[in-house]
Amino acid sequence: MSEITLEGLEKRYGETTAVEDVSVDIDDGELLCLLGPSGSGKSTTLRMIAGLETPTDGTIRIGDDDVTDQPAYDRTTSTVFQDWALFPHKTVLENVTFGLKMQGVSKDERRDRAREMLERVQMAGYGDDDPTTLSGGQKQRVALARSLAVNPDVLLLDEPLSNLDKRLREDMQIELREIHDDLEKTFVHVTHDQDEAFTLADRIGIMNEGELIQIGDPHEVYENPKNRFIEAFLGDTNFVDATVSRTTAEAAYVDTELGAELVLPTDREPAVDEGTDLTISLRPEILSIDRAADATGDGTTKQRAVADGSTANAVTGTIRNVVYRGSTVRYSVSIDGASLFVERSDAGVETLAAGDEVRIEWNGADALAFRTDGTRVEL
Ligand SMILES: Nc1ncnc2c1ncn2[C@@H]1O[C@H](COP(=O)(O)OP(=O)(O)OP(=O)(O)O)[C@@H](O)[C@H]1O
Ligand SMILES: [Mg+2]
Repeated sequence: MSEITLEGLEKRYGETTAVEDVSVDIDDGELLCLLGPSGSGKSTTLRMIAGLETPTDGTIRIGDDDVTDQPAYDRTTSTVFQDWALFPHKTVLENVTFGLKMQGVSKDERRDRAREMLERVQMAGYGDDDPTTLSGGQKQRVALARSLAVNPDVLLLDEPLSNLDKRLREDMQIELREIHDDLEKTFVHVTHDQDEAFTLADRIGIMNEGELIQIGDPHEVYENPKNRFIEAFLGDTNFVDATVSRTTAEAAYVDTELGAELVLPTDREPAVDEGTDLTISLRPEILSIDRAADATGDGTTKQRAVADGSTANAVTGTIRNVVYRGSTVRYSVSIDGASLFVERSDAGVETLAAGDEVRIEWNGADALAFRTDGTRVEL
């Protein structure tokens, strides 16, 4: 059963369209992350689900109820905000019991529920503390306990971890996921951090300019990005300009700024014609890098044209710089005036240095191709 249904949801502020035609079914007990750059409409969507903003158009259902015109306090949602918004003149326990008091829950039960929630977020023993004396991570836990104490059907989280430092944020992501799995409630979590979305989500909904452009499980959106925007947003990649030079029944061949003709094997008759301009995405993890066996040493690069029927691609170039990033090493390689970066795990890799001539290879089937309007070419 879907717990939340958004249908044609829209929010305009004067001339600005903050959210445009968003439709999605969120399953009961699902953890959905809304991911997108700043200003893409994530918070506005969340605030409409919470009842803190009124949609200009469209409907919102929670469970069996149409809640589109229902005020926030009548909804079975609870929200955790980025700034936690704890009451400074109340103790931690009073902060957590506050919503329960509003619900008319008896004093003893309030106390018991609040204690239970504080324990759940590993803050047992802090009940009498002044929240202003807590660390960011501790405040975040109290805010979470407060939102959970009222036993909502749906927990809405708007960048609740973004004020925490990287290490704590990563720990809290795991804990949040555990709390979700424990409580079996529906969570909608807003973030602009793709790592956070990948860590937490059952499904990721990617927003851009007010629209929900793709929704799917993390693997699906990463392996199958619908357009170039998503490919660029989900991680570092090499975009290479290309023009289709010829096609066969099972491949498209492209001329690129890397000098060599590259092959894109296809499952069917290629969906692109000769002369079509494309952008090819070569993610660093699909590229292998090795010292060029046939390095000429005279500074020129030699490109190997691909043979018909082969899915292998290879280009040679010169390492421009090497950046150690702890567990990985990133090489920037100059190729015919263009460049590619390759990321390798440090362990067991022969040390390569700036100035070395190298050969970069990949399986053409691992590359993605996009048209100039950003749409994906199905290969
Ligand atoms: N109350 C408002 N009045 C006018 N415009 C608004 C209002 N709230 C949001 N907007 C506009 O709507 C758009 C979407 O805003 P929203 O806050 O939903 O983005 P967001 O994805 O949450 O961004 P961020 O990651 O920066 O929090 C933006 O262009 C924003 O300026
Ligand atoms: Mg926001």
